[in-house]
Amino acid sequence: MAVSIEAKNLTKDFVITKKEPGLKGAFKSLIHSEKSILHAVNNISFSIETGQIVGYIGPNGAGKSTTIKMMSGILQPTSGEVTIGGLSPFKERKKVVRNLGVVFGQRTQLYWDLRLGESFELLRRIYEIDDDTYHKNLTVLNDILNIQEIINTPVRQLSLGQRMRGDLAAAILHSPPVIFLDEPTIGLDVDVKYCVRQFIKDINEQYHTTIILTTHDLGDIEKLCDRIIIINHGEIIHDCSLETLMNNFAPDRQLVVDLYKEPENSVAINNVKIIKQEGARLWIEYNKKETGTGDIIESIAAKYPIRDISIEESKIEDVIRKIYAKGEIQN
Ligand SMILES: Nc1ncnc2c1ncn2[C@@H]1O[C@H](COP(=O)(O)OP(=O)(O)O)[C@@H](O)[C@H]1O
Ligand SMILES: [Mg+2]
Repeated sequence: MAVSIEAKNLTKDFVITKKEPGLKGAFKSLIHSEKSILHAVNNISFSIETGQIVGYIGPNGAGKSTTIKMMSGILQPTSGEVTIGGLSPFKERKKVVRNLGVVFGQRTQLYWDLRLGESFELLRRIYEIDDDTYHKNLTVLNDILNIQEIINTPVRQLSLGQRMRGDLAAAILHSPPVIFLDEPTIGLDVDVKYCVRQFIKDINEQYHTTIILTTHDLGDIEKLCDRIIIINHGEIIHDCSLETLMNNFAPDRQLVVDLYKEPENSVAINNVKIIKQEGARLWIEYNKKETGTGDIIESIAAKYPIRDISIEESKIEDVIRKIYAKGEIQN
């Protein structure tokens, strides 16, 4: 089923009370508090097509969870709108939740006092999942998330990783075409993180599920996302592929070149910046959009015989950190 997500000038304001420091301040703000408005999500627009995996990233407090909450019908937008398959999740929550699976990494949606399997049975009734779908989904989920191992354990006794596996399974029991995952890998160890990533990949491939994922783990983004939307201070600052982002913000590539022997004079090569030279080893930098690596290597080799070469790509972490920092200067 094709279900796209559209946000148009979506905005959420919170009225917050300014507190003055100290006990005296606390009393004062009880009596006449100074209020101000926080634009948690400020006039954002995007359109997400069926089957995309979108990484929704930004620093703490950027407005990611607030957006997810508006998209899942938990919060009402202050202005603007978001629709899922043409419906407003807040106004038509009942209809929309059938198309939606939502997981908040920080908070379980499972029933604390029930066994995991009993939670699933409840969801089966709430969503009126037919027998075929239910059993098929449980089998698939068991393959990916090894659910059988924990199905009889009360939710309160599950470890964080087990609970996350349970939460993910619960979110897609009713085969929703759209899922929102708000920090699904937070606090998980490497094994479970891998399992969650595999789950996201498999579900997207098998069911063509549309997935919006917020995460601080850029490994998740690199492994999974076709597109990233970066939000800062409630505003979208970039919306593109990771590749485009990297090309725009880290256009330079570094090579470490070992020559057969130390050059006698200072080294000069066209289109290349020599960053450092130590004996027969050179560190060079060039713009990968303007010049191909092959050409660079050829022009070095024409002058200086090369023994070994390694390429150093910019790290995604560095680029993203740079982008976040830029947002701070502007604001
Ligand atoms: N219920 C609320 N009342 C007041 N302020 C809130 C509320 N929820 C979130 N905020 C504020 O809105 C901003 C965005 O929060 P959030 O969407 O949770 O950010 P993120 O998920 O990107 O870390 C933050 O400054 C946060 O403190
Ligand atoms: Mg959040």
